[in-house]
Amino acid sequence: MIVLGIETSCDETAAAVVNGRTILSNLVYSQVAEHGPYGGVVPEIAARSHVHHLDTLIKDAMQEANVGFNQIDGVAATAGPGLIGGLMVGLTMGKAIALVHNLPFVAANHLQAHALSARLTHGTRFPYLLLLASGGHCQFLVVNGVSNYRRLGTTLDDAPGEAFDKVARMLGLGYPGGPAIEEQAQWGDPKRYQLPRPLKGRKGCDFSFSGLKTAVANIVAKHGEDKDLLSDLCASFQEAIADVFVDRLDNARALINQPQSTPIDSLVLAGGVGANKCIRSRLSKRAAQLNLNFIVPPANLCTDNAAMVAWVGYESISLGLVDGMQAPARARWPLDPEPHVHLERIDNG
Ligand code: KG4
Ligand code: ZN
Repeated sequence: MIVLGIETSCDETAAAVVNGRTILSNLVYSQVAEHGPYGGVVPEIAARSHVHHLDTLIKDAMQEANVGFNQIDGVAATAGPGLIGGLMVGLTMGKAIALVHNLPFVAANHLQAHALSARLTHGTRFPYLLLLASGGHCQFLVVNGVSNYRRLGTTLDDAPGEAFDKVARMLGLGYPGGPAIEEQAQWGDPKRYQLPRPLKGRKGCDFSFSGLKTAVANIVAKHGEDKDLLSDLCASFQEAIADVFVDRLDNARALINQPQSTPIDSLVLAGGVGANKCIRSRLSKRAAQLNLNFIVPPANLCTDNAAMVAWVGYESISLGLVDGMQAPARARWPLDPEPHVHLERIDNG
């Protein structure tokens, strides 16, 4: 089954074609240069840029895949969560292609696309433990099926990618912050600064990153523009995030330890922050100690892309799950039906 995927939820315009687990094409136009001067994504600029680039990108993705619209079996476009203007661009385009060519259409959830990407790249079987860490989200989930998620914990404030981006901005490293901080960190001493590890040692597997960001801001205020400190600060910050992930993983592992009909034996890391080598390696080591197979898609499939969206289309259509032309764009769209369960757990603990 050949599926076209379209992704426009944030600042990447992306189109891809998959044939089952084979990626025939996977094109991403990054708007980084357009948003760079503002230090973050400007929704209006993003929406206009999607309009400008999407049709050419789809044409190129189809050409690279060497397929015509009469050879594809379905279309999937990200419908949320994300920036509403951009979502409407991709969703409308996806619906139009499906309508004109009489193809099944899937309105994909962006978080679901990250969550299922390990099944595209590694064929991972349900159920598995997922750490989804991106620019807008941070969650531990049990993935039981294509549309069946149980959230174990989430962030109480910022997402880790957001923290990377804000810290990079403070340090004058530009946007997006994750790759820039990782680059600087390779020459730095991760023990130079004792940064906080928010919620470490606490019950549950929720996250908090805003205190860490403030701690970096205080150091920057004290030391000003001292360039010698940059690498050490980046390394210390990255190390603090990795430490938090490892601590929270221990608790997530304990939460899923209860007897289940099918035991969970894999940890999947997904989302843009999953591209970070230090974080990948720390989680990989800890997962092995906890008897979990560690699975992480290649970096270009951790950050936003349309192959993962096409894959949601493939999985959904295979199960007969398709959407009508009335499917709405949704700025907010949590994966699990109980979004506030974690807050009660933290208050009691
Ligand atoms: O998944 P993604 O591409 O978009 C969202 O759905 O949010 O994630 C983007 C986030 C950005 O905040 C970016 O700074 C972060 O992922 N990121 C990284 C790295 N590459 C991207 N963070 C840390 N290390 C990286 N190498
Ligand atoms: Zn994403």
